[in-house]
Amino acid sequence: MNNIFLIGFMGAGKSSVAEGLGTLLKLPVVEMDQYISENEHMTIPEIFEKKGEAYFRQCETELLRSCCTEEARIISCGGGVAMRQENVEVMHSCGTVILLTATPEVILERVKGNNDRPLLQNKKNVKDIAELMELRRPKYEAAADITIDTSKLDVKQVCQSILKEIWNEA
Ligand code: S3P
Repeated sequence: MNNIFLIGFMGAGKSSVAEGLGTLLKLPVVEMDQYISENEHMTIPEIFEKKGEAYFRQCETELLRSCCTEEARIISCGGGVAMRQENVEVMHSCGTVILLTATPEVILERVKGNNDRPLLQNKKNVKDIAELMELRRPKYEAAADITIDTSKLDVKQVCQSILKEIWNEA
């Protein structure tokens, strides 16, 4: 029941914030992309290319389900996790869902040097990022218990904001 799921667009800061929260709360961190990549012995672009996106999405759902145990964890979700209603239900059944947001400009700065995201291949510009974000926004917002705009905050400040919100809700 006590998991913390971090959701949001690629580059919103989920991985760094998960690490920060894990250290602060002394909880294990699950970095979904890394776990799936290690489990499949392939990089994320290789999984998309060789097995297809649908296969990757199924890996995500299975991993999420396996996180719902007695042990609390911080889970850094892939950016597409909240697009599946089934995943949203799993997250709400065993934890709190935190949405991290940032402006398209900030996202671009954070993702521009990285080639591990198949969905951003040839789309590393503000217009394409803003379009995909807008498409996804309703589902992110519907899934979130708490939303934090990370655009102007560092990792420590985001972690502090999250903990404040969680304690306010408790
Ligand atoms: C995806 C986000 C990526 C990764 C995959 C697909 C998405 O994770 O799961 O490339 O659909 O938004 P990050 O959000 O950690 O970059």
